[in-house]
Amino acid sequence: MHFHILTLFPEMVCDGLHTSVIGRAADQGLLSIHAVNIRDYTENKHGKVDDYPYGGGAGMLMQAQPVYDAYKAVADKIDSGTSKVRVIYLSPQGKLFTQQMASELAKEENLIFLCGHYEGIDERVLEEIVTDEVSIGNYVLTGGELAAMVMIDAISRLVPGVLGNQDSGVAESLEGSLLEYPQYSRPEYWHGKQVPAVLMSGHHANIARWRREQSIVRTAKKRPELLEKAQLSEEERALAQRARME
Ligand code: ADE
Repeated sequence: MHFHILTLFPEMVCDGLHTSVIGRAADQGLLSIHAVNIRDYTENKHGKVDDYPYGGGAGMLMQAQPVYDAYKAVADKIDSGTSKVRVIYLSPQGKLFTQQMASELAKEENLIFLCGHYEGIDERVLEEIVTDEVSIGNYVLTGGELAAMVMIDAISRLVPGVLGNQDSGVAESLEGSLLEYPQYSRPEYWHGKQVPAVLMSGHHANIARWRREQSIVRTAKKRPELLEKAQLSEEERALAQRARME
């Protein structure tokens, strides 16, 4: 998986993503993160990339030319065969980012992220290059960089080998529509609290059953809307119902 990020703040994206799990995956060659400074592509001799909006209004707009040329430089280097590489524009007006969208995007070989700043980007270049407009939540950020980093993190952990353990990213995602069960590690007693006895029993079937019940109860209490899509037995539905009433 190759991530290409068009941004005015390449250090922000690189510094943030070249650490921990994602940084290690990049070092191992499982993925690459390539930030492109839009400013490097401006034809303005003073390095300007923004201007006032026609018709007036607050703030400045990123101009079409440097954004398009930065995009073109990246797109021309990507050999995507016949299919057009997806260009994701981060914006609060976009479709809400979900785990399902992360899985779908994880299948791509290359992804281009376009991060806006100031009051936005000239609409004409967006019309020309953007394939997906995505929001990470119903709030407004100062720019698209943090949103791109959130998306890249969520997509990367679905790339085979990145998590580096036996679990796949999907197994513990929200796609099964159940939340994770609670987990405990040593010591057995801490602050007067004991680890649930079943986990100390060594009885794998009982542990698996307990964990599934805990997942159902938790989901019913914390995120009941996720249960609509979950595949539950009649007995499990009743358990969820009871948990919601508590
Ligand atoms: N840019 C500004 N706010 C955003 C949001 N909520 N999601 C994605 N990009 C953004």
